[in-house]
Amino acid sequence: MSEEGSPLESRLTEQEYFRPPTEFVGQANVSDPDIYDRFDENYPEAFEEYAELLDWDEHWDEVLDDSNPPFYEWFSGGQLNASYNCIDRHLDERKNQAAFIWEGTDSEERETITYQDLYNRVNAAAASLRDVGVEEDDVVTCHLPMLPALPVTMLACARIGAPHSEVFAGFSAQALADRIDDADSDVVVTCDGYYRRGEFLNHKEKCDEALELAESDVDSVVLWTRHDELHEDVEIDGDDPYVLADDLLADNERARVDPVSRDAEDPLFLMYTSGTTGQPKGCQHRTGGYMSYVTATSKYVLDIEPEDTYWCAADIGWITGHSYIVYGPLALGTTSVMYEDTPDHPHKGRIWEIAERYDVDIFHTSPTAVRMFMKWGAEHVDEYDFDFRHMTTVGEPIQPEAWLWYYKHIGDEDAVIVDTWWQTETGGHLITNLPALKDMKPGSAGLPAPGIQPALYDDGGEPMEPATGKAGNLVIEKPWPGMLQTVYGNDERFIEEYWQDFSDTDSDDPEDWVYKAGDGAVHEDDGYFRVLGRLDDVMNVAGHRLGTMELESAVSEVQDVAEAAVAARDHDEKGEVPDVYVVVREGVSASNEEVRDRIIEAVEDEIGKFARPDRVVFVEDLPKTRSGKIMRRLLENISNGDELGNTTTLRDPSVPEDIRDQVHGDD
Ligand code: WTA
Repeated sequence: MSEEGSPLESRLTEQEYFRPPTEFVGQANVSDPDIYDRFDENYPEAFEEYAELLDWDEHWDEVLDDSNPPFYEWFSGGQLNASYNCIDRHLDERKNQAAFIWEGTDSEERETITYQDLYNRVNAAAASLRDVGVEEDDVVTCHLPMLPALPVTMLACARIGAPHSEVFAGFSAQALADRIDDADSDVVVTCDGYYRRGEFLNHKEKCDEALELAESDVDSVVLWTRHDELHEDVEIDGDDPYVLADDLLADNERARVDPVSRDAEDPLFLMYTSGTTGQPKGCQHRTGGYMSYVTATSKYVLDIEPEDTYWCAADIGWITGHSYIVYGPLALGTTSVMYEDTPDHPHKGRIWEIAERYDVDIFHTSPTAVRMFMKWGAEHVDEYDFDFRHMTTVGEPIQPEAWLWYYKHIGDEDAVIVDTWWQTETGGHLITNLPALKDMKPGSAGLPAPGIQPALYDDGGEPMEPATGKAGNLVIEKPWPGMLQTVYGNDERFIEEYWQDFSDTDSDDPEDWVYKAGDGAVHEDDGYFRVLGRLDDVMNVAGHRLGTMELESAVSEVQDVAEAAVAARDHDEKGEVPDVYVVVREGVSASNEEVRDRIIEAVEDEIGKFARPDRVVFVEDLPKTRSGKIMRRLLENISNGDELGNTTTLRDPSVPEDIRDQVHGDD
């Protein structure tokens, strides 16, 4: 039933702010507006409230040590264990409550993992990791899909104080090898396979290849099995470093491993993410500050109660899943839903069917997913009976039209929606409303979270007047507990990527240090921030972060390619997609179709299928400055059908015009 043009539709479209439902406000975890002042007036000590949500083995001496910016230390002197906080401390009260409810590709395949089960499994896995030689502070690289084995492995690593570095399962063998090398991991954890659109994917193959490609010698690979036994399509060769997780676990079935007390500043995990160079950065997150921040934001922003059934339909392989499927929700002792495969398998109502089956209260997804649900149509939703109290979006700007659809068709106009802006580097939400306290505004991430100080700076590095409605570079002026510690093994790069542009790097006064987010934003006159997207060479494809340089270096692996540049093109559903502009080497005999296929294959091999270029455009030349620098901005304008803009600095201004005519013809 279409309501386009109805009074309800136009009321929703014209309305700028939406009040949180009274029923929501009445039960919210934070409903006292005093929280904002408390954090402003009492920074940084107010963050102790966050740390107090955890159990510590040793109390901290100091909330924030900012004597050596930007290497801030949070809760230093304190000691704790993340796995203990996510599991052991809940056992007295809720050992037989579900921590995870997992559904496989076939919805008949369901698993309920209670906190006691999780405790048993994590202990056995921790003992198993020790059996293959993992010691405290060793980085364990994981390449696991959405199986219970993933959170179990992460928590087992945390239990023994070994930082994990989970590589999203969609990443290729080469991407896995690069991350194994960068982290210098001796132990890798993967699985035989998993299901996608109902088909079994051999996942071990990628690890086999990664072991060949990696420079470091991996001593052991722990191989989980998707079923009780190794899949028939998957083999282990006697010389391989593979060890079956099932065998290790059988030896350690009743093992108990004491959680290792970690210093607050000891790293909990690495998460590689794209930056402005071809080499991904290992964002290193600390134990104490990170755990405090994600636990508190799970409680106050996501409004999670232990009694809730919570569902963040993201992949644990990205930061959202680390913070808001694993660490935050488990630290609060709630029940989470996890599922394998895609939202349209076996049918387009799958998400809502699961929501109904477990009576999900809180639902968390991305704008890309909302746009997809919208395209599929409300009829897939209407068939099911569920009632969300709270809904979240993350990862990209959400267009007001998609927001309204989400509000109306998924939230039934009585759920609160929070838009959360943050990054792999920030650990947790930074710009987002506390849902009971601030009105929702479609398309806007909202106000800063308590104690967070965002601002806009101009391109000259000067702070702009607040709340003028103008666009600028989004920065954060004061440190917060969830922030990354450094780029693994590369403090210089940490400074270059995040601080240098807007800080006085010679100063040791923290006031002179400002964190650069890499995003553009508008600070509106009501104080709300509208995030516009990346200003650097990073794009956001269906909520996945991709570096232009990573794509370009993959494309240039193809022999026939003389030169290539990648431009982000706006896309209705995915937000952005990569377009590749290519100059073919002279004398290449292959057809353009063949070269295109090789390029696509190279991107899939170097990064993963999710990074596949949308369009490959063959051109005579690329737009370059007189000094020979490729001007990607012009290609981006061409891709998006925008005006070319200033071309006076070009060596040959006819180049972009020719490309434009080629791409758009006469239109
Ligand atoms: C973008 C994901 C608009 C932004 C948690 C940021 C957003 C990048 C939002 C980080 C939002 C994230 N509104 N844009 N609510 N949330 N972004 O590291 O460009 O995968 O810099 O972390 O996503 O992506 P990442």
